[in-house]
Amino acid sequence: MQIEFLDTAPPSGPTPAIRLQARLCAADTLPPGLEPVLAEGAKAARFAGKPGQVFEGFAERATAGQGAALARVALVGIGKADSTAAERRDTLEKAGAALVARYRTSGEEALLLDVSGADGAGGLDAADVVAVLLGARLRGWHHDAYRTTLKDEQKRSLTRIAVLGAPAGTEAAWADAAALAEGVEFTRELVTEPANVLFPESFVARCQDRLAGTGVELTVLGKAEMTALGMGALLGVAQGSAREPRVLAMVWNGGKAGEKPTAFIGKGVTFDSGGISLKPPGGMEDMKWDMGGAGAVAGTMLTLALRGAKANVVGICGLVENMPDGLAQRPGDVVTSMSGQTIEVINTDAEGRLVLCDVLTWAQATYKPAALVDLATLTGASIAALAHEYAGLFSNDDKLADALTAAGKASGDLLWRFPMGPAFDKMIDSPIADMKNTGGRFGGSITAAQFIARFVEKGTPWAHLDIAGMVWADKPGATWDKGATGYGVRLLDAYVRDVLEAGTGPSGA
Ligand code: BES
Ligand code: MN
Ligand code: ZN
Repeated sequence: MQIEFLDTAPPSGPTPAIRLQARLCAADTLPPGLEPVLAEGAKAARFAGKPGQVFEGFAERATAGQGAALARVALVGIGKADSTAAERRDTLEKAGAALVARYRTSGEEALLLDVSGADGAGGLDAADVVAVLLGARLRGWHHDAYRTTLKDEQKRSLTRIAVLGAPAGTEAAWADAAALAEGVEFTRELVTEPANVLFPESFVARCQDRLAGTGVELTVLGKAEMTALGMGALLGVAQGSAREPRVLAMVWNGGKAGEKPTAFIGKGVTFDSGGISLKPPGGMEDMKWDMGGAGAVAGTMLTLALRGAKANVVGICGLVENMPDGLAQRPGDVVTSMSGQTIEVINTDAEGRLVLCDVLTWAQATYKPAALVDLATLTGASIAALAHEYAGLFSNDDKLADALTAAGKASGDLLWRFPMGPAFDKMIDSPIADMKNTGGRFGGSITAAQFIARFVEKGTPWAHLDIAGMVWADKPGATWDKGATGYGVRLLDAYVRDVLEAGTGPSGA
């Protein structure tokens, strides 16, 4: 979606008249100067300016020297002004998104969004208009690369939004939001790609392509390096697959020289069949998005670089495919992790923690991070607990947990904290090895987190985000169509902005 800012209306301005024109309306308010026929139509259609409510009518409007032309006029509701900043942002995003959802395949190529009269809600500032535009852009993203037989009316037509009357500072503020949108869209692309296209090597290649020239430095570990490092847990998962595993590190040093980075770590299981503990066939295709944590980390790194974030961040993805095979690992196998701790593999489908543990060990040894945040589609149990509304948050550090929770609220990528402790930790003791990779019937998300916690060095603030319920949507949401949501990018970007760039986070010289 191309976004441009106009000073004057098209009839006398630089672009040709745009037929589709939209105005924002606060609750029970209509824009001043609206044609009576539209005002009457809106009333007849019970348009009340509710958040995301859209009314469409037609009116004759003047064009540049060519007489009158038919304008297609959309009114979109932005509700009442009396809510928190986060709620306000949600509402405005929803309004922008509703417009694009309605007109994405309408045949119209451009939308003129007139925000000049949108003062019924107490006036929109630059951040408000940016929220509308971000919602519009994110809702417009769609992956149609493999659709060769789309009918014309199913194809995307809307590619351009021209904003009229935006308050001062909107264009500059939009640049940061556009960087965020790029990152979210990159994550969605990675998450959407099927596993025959996106596997560890090709995941790395996409990141190399997309991050080229941004200032992000990439390091890739292959199988030989991982073997030399002793990553027996990660390699055990990978050994049933014809696809070689990779670890991808993406370094962004936008902060103070010498300041320890924050590490974002992503589970990148490009396909999770379950391995020998094979999953049932129903819905197994969903496991192409078992790399959603890694996808979110890659998208975040793109955003941080594009907006020139003043923080030191390293994003690390553990990339493997989990397959059954004659060489695949078996339930009962004991593997030795890079940390030296041994693991009895009870269930080969609890593979995410086996990947993360070695990546965590390597990340701490290599980058000495000030704090670690891992994102993983780790457990179905987190979906049982939180549905698709919150990701699970687990942490050894209240300050980090609180900061992430706040970033979740500010960004709309919500988090809910779970308990941890020795009683849960005991559940993963093994009779033959240092630990086992499952914890029994109950508290499955917590025992998974306890497993990862055993690989965090003492004194390092760490948080684990179980995003299994958030990566993929079976129905359209406010700012996404059904499919990949891009969850995590907005959260991590907000954390970097509000905590690391504000200088209030864990760091060390
Ligand atoms: N990738 C899955 C978790 C998952 C399930 C993500 C559904 C998204 C939707 C993970 O690797 C897994 O299989 N977890 C098991 C753990 C169990 C074997 C202890 C689970 O949640 O059932
Ligand atoms: Mn699994
Ligand atoms: Zn998995």
